[in-house]
Amino acid sequence: MNEYESNKATKILQMPIEIEGMTIQPESLPLFSTSAFSADSMEEMKAIYQNSGYAYIRFRSPNREILENYISVIERTEKSLCLASGMAAITSTIFSNITAGDKIICSYHVYGETLEFFEYLENNYHVAIEFIDLTNYDAVVASITENTKLIYAETIGNPTMIVPDFVKLSKLAKQNNILLIVDNTFATGIASTPSEYGADIVINSLTKFINGHSDSIGGSVSGNKYLIDNIKKVSSFIGTPLDPYNSWTISKHILSLDLRMNKQMENAKMLALFLKNHKKVKTVNYPLFSKLPVESMRCIFPSDKYGAMLSFEIDEDLKKIERFMKALVNIRYAPTLGGIRTTMAHPVTSSHGNVPDEKRRMMGITPGLIRISVGAEDIDALINEFEQAFKIL
Ligand SMILES: Cc1ncc(COP(=O)(O)O)c(C=O)c1O
Repeated sequence: MNEYESNKATKILQMPIEIEGMTIQPESLPLFSTSAFSADSMEEMKAIYQNSGYAYIRFRSPNREILENYISVIERTEKSLCLASGMAAITSTIFSNITAGDKIICSYHVYGETLEFFEYLENNYHVAIEFIDLTNYDAVVASITENTKLIYAETIGNPTMIVPDFVKLSKLAKQNNILLIVDNTFATGIASTPSEYGADIVINSLTKFINGHSDSIGGSVSGNKYLIDNIKKVSSFIGTPLDPYNSWTISKHILSLDLRMNKQMENAKMLALFLKNHKKVKTVNYPLFSKLPVESMRCIFPSDKYGAMLSFEIDEDLKKIERFMKALVNIRYAPTLGGIRTTMAHPVTSSHGNVPDEKRRMMGITPGLIRISVGAEDIDALINEFEQAFKIL
């Protein structure tokens, strides 16, 4: 492990569990399962409100704040906010940063529901959205107008693992006074730190690798104090702050994020190389195989680690694909990712099922595409499992 990673991992393990007003020091974070905090008098309650103390759980929650501090360390930002889901983080962030008449440039290599949300905004809120392949820098330059407020992308795009050149994009965004928002869910701050290559706001679905155990849902948004306080206000109005139980669960599991991610990322690299050399595989999508300039790759993936997601294409014969997926008996077919166990998904029949075929193909999503979230199993067992399954094709 290099210094870059160990700093973050060590820091969150060594952070004291400090909760305002608590004098004992529990070794493990307790769950504050309460919707409010009471006071002894009107005077005391008034003081709590005036000093923004603990009053009502939607405004402040000890469990949420501990998790927010961890996320800020992982994402290297001044402040973070935890929300009810990844989608709550995305929608609260966008609603806080646009007004009618604005334009958003969105990568079309993003999670299906994120795409649907932007389409919904365009159809109902008088906001212009332009979906662009962000790897086409000239197209991004050409699409900027004086109304452009935001550029939205995923570090590693779902499900084709496309990585835009964020070094160039962030410069372009700054020159044009545009906020760059990056969803870092696939990479996590262990593989990539968007705030360090110019992203203004970093989003995570905590449901995925950060929690890592497929037993919680949450989201986060990180950035400077000004931006996060603005999103916090809107999030409180629309009721999207993360609840105590999920904050508590995720803040326990995030402590092993670095251990899990390193093993899963190592496995993903080996599996990607195996698939790349397999004669029944047409293409393998994995960030290491992207065509970005070396300097940009170094900025985006400074530890030479590329997350634990990959996808690959086989023949577009749905019956065969179904048999292939069934032959992968120890790999579950689940509409999620980022757990400790390897799971697979078929985007055309799940996350991108509502996107028309022509548009999907333009995005690189064909019926032969299978997405794998690589877990922490023994890599030889994983590769054997795939080797067996390929025999039925
Ligand atoms: C990249 C990405 N961002 C955001 C989300 C939404 O997260 P959640 O399901 O926690 O709302 C997902 C869900 O799969 C995702 O893959």
